[in-house]
Amino acid sequence: MTTPQTLPNDLQSYWLPFTANRLFKSNPRMFVAAEGMHYRTSDGRLILDAMAGLWCVNAGHNPPRIVKAIQDQAARMDFVSSFQMSHPLGFLLAERIADLAPAGMDRVFFTNSGSEAVDTALKIARAYHKVRGHANRVKLIGRARGYHGMGFGGLSVAGIPRHRRDFGPLLGDVDHLPHTHDLARNAFSRGQPAWGAHLADELESIVQIHDASTIAAVIVEPVTGSGGVLPPPVGYLERLRELCTRHGILLIFDEVISGFGRLGAPFGSTALGVTPDLITCAKGMTNGAVPMGGVIASRAVYDAFMHGPETTVELMHGYTYSGHPLACAASLAAIETYEQDGLFERGPEICATWENIIHQLKGAPHICDIRSIGLLAAIELTSREGAVGARAAEAAELCFEQGVLVRVAGDSLVLSPPLIITPEQMTRVTEAIHSALQQVA
Ligand SMILES: Cc1ncc(COP(=O)(O)O)c(C=O)c1O
Repeated sequence: MTTPQTLPNDLQSYWLPFTANRLFKSNPRMFVAAEGMHYRTSDGRLILDAMAGLWCVNAGHNPPRIVKAIQDQAARMDFVSSFQMSHPLGFLLAERIADLAPAGMDRVFFTNSGSEAVDTALKIARAYHKVRGHANRVKLIGRARGYHGMGFGGLSVAGIPRHRRDFGPLLGDVDHLPHTHDLARNAFSRGQPAWGAHLADELESIVQIHDASTIAAVIVEPVTGSGGVLPPPVGYLERLRELCTRHGILLIFDEVISGFGRLGAPFGSTALGVTPDLITCAKGMTNGAVPMGGVIASRAVYDAFMHGPETTVELMHGYTYSGHPLACAASLAAIETYEQDGLFERGPEICATWENIIHQLKGAPHICDIRSIGLLAAIELTSREGAVGARAAEAAELCFEQGVLVRVAGDSLVLSPPLIITPEQMTRVTEAIHSALQQVA
């Protein structure tokens, strides 16, 4: 790792995202280097990263193969547009991703983030129905507690109220399924909880209100992530798939978190055995090293667009940086790293060890639930009266003081470490949490 730096200036010019700016600037948490499982802070501390950056650094920080691929590509060709032209790496990468995706999902559209991937998938869904003569199918169905990024499309189908409240009218043609979290029935479940498959049947009620002929797509995260790590009940995704097929509705899995190894397989769809029509991905796609997202479409969806004169632009959509050469190089190297280092293969074994170690926290102060699936977990704490989230925020701060970075979602401590984490490091994470929970009121 490089030498720690001191603070650069008075910090006032930078408006940080999703951050209490004034609080941050009064006590900045600054990282200056990273390697493997660790960050180095500006004051020289080594921090164990139990968040994989932001659910993205799946192979650990700065794997040499990815660093070199980015360096080499930057020296070879910095940029080329993907509008009416392209470069070989884009095609190589799309083919690699198609190989990893569920059978039949082999067409890839590149974006630069998860938010763009979601908005792209929603637009593809509407355009798909239109091109097939069903222009009425425009409604989009999300789910309570869902997170789909910060574009107006993703925000509209998402279900976290505090994210939506400040931005005026969102898309109108939207409805939501209920979330699947139920502490009374599912607390301390390991993997998929047994109770709750019937909640997918709420789609039938939505269809009865709106009529299937007006609905374009249902979008869910296979495992709700930012909404608090909520694994799908056994049979729930299968039921949703069945209902969507029956009603001619496209099913979109937002795999921005669950893609690229997080659930112990290349995609959540492959890990959970349910195939949607569209998959959104980002984050682990480049191991977080260069911004990139994408939509993986089924052959059937793609083929629906491939009609009319060959001069037709089949999908009037794209971004300047779609398929950026640096991002493609990083993604190809990330996939190679996941494969060469056996991270997909070892997934089930690592995930089983993780589950055992995480659930040993049961019985520690304030814990009302532990949920885990793949290399994800949430430790939910009872809320303080009138101060939801305060206890978890204090606990996360105490973990940081002990050199362990965890994330907070409401009153849950959320964990999603790099897939290279060792059992000893897993234990270090749980020991830090245990100690923090003994200290918070
Ligand atoms: C499920 C899901 N979808 C979309 C996004 C948005 O991705 P980005 O922040 O890259 O725009 C996220 C980000 O955490 C996510 O978890």
